[in-house]
Amino acid sequence: MNKIIKKEVLGEKIKKIEVEAPLIAKKALPGQFIVLRVDEKGERIPLTIAGIDAEKGTITLIFQEVGTSTGKLGMLKEGEDILNVVGPLGNPVEIEKYGRVCIIVGGVGAAFVYWMAKAFKEKGNYLITVMGARNEKLLILEKEMKKISDEVIIATDDGSKGRKGFTTDVLTDLIGIGDKLDYVLTAGPIPMMKKVSDITKKHGIKTIASLNPIMVDGTGMCGGCRVTVGKEVKFACVDGPDFDAHSVDFDELLKRTALYKSHEGKSYEKLLHRCKIGLDT
Ligand code: FES
Repeated sequence: MNKIIKKEVLGEKIKKIEVEAPLIAKKALPGQFIVLRVDEKGERIPLTIAGIDAEKGTITLIFQEVGTSTGKLGMLKEGEDILNVVGPLGNPVEIEKYGRVCIIVGGVGAAFVYWMAKAFKEKGNYLITVMGARNEKLLILEKEMKKISDEVIIATDDGSKGRKGFTTDVLTDLIGIGDKLDYVLTAGPIPMMKKVSDITKKHGIKTIASLNPIMVDGTGMCGGCRVTVGKEVKFACVDGPDFDAHSVDFDELLKRTALYKSHEGKSYEKLLHRCKIGLDT
């Protein structure tokens, strides 16, 4: 059992929890993730670790309620327990001094890379963070990103915060005005990561995509997180979750994810309905 020490609502259906997990907090590095199960009936939920407090023995997790299991996780309160948390899993990202590092995130993608971004800054890189969301309400970790970045540029689809448009427009402009970027890390919606990758490929900028595909066991056994990278089949849980963006087959990833998302959404709607009419979840 892992107790929730602290819980915060960051945005529409986006929650941040601090969970007791001393062994994971001791070993985890930026880029790694955990798999948790809320209860006996719950599916396994993979979540990137957004931070640790090794002294307190806690890890921070940020998630969006998109399906039944993340919905149930979001309903847990401070002091309540998660059935189990397994990790750290996956490979840590290589934190080097590249020079000018640009983090490009969309929506909840900010949560996947927050800890990595912090580590890049601590390594002495100049950090430019480009954050995007459909609207202001879906923008998360703005305050936290501002604390660790040298520059933060915000773009929203509807113009409710920052510039109206997409993160990829900002990237194009940064390159267009001659802003030298040595390394790009991107996380968020697959079409956004694909576009980022297309742009940086043309300009020869090293780019890493932090992928968040469907995961089941998190140990390389089920094949759920399969992704094609440079014509090779890789498993995000054991070979990733961060890959050279220029080699990722984003079209295939998008198709696989879209198939799963429609099931996930329907199941989440059912959960909300059961809660509303007072049935056991
Ligand atoms: S989650 Fe099963 S192989 Fe990666």
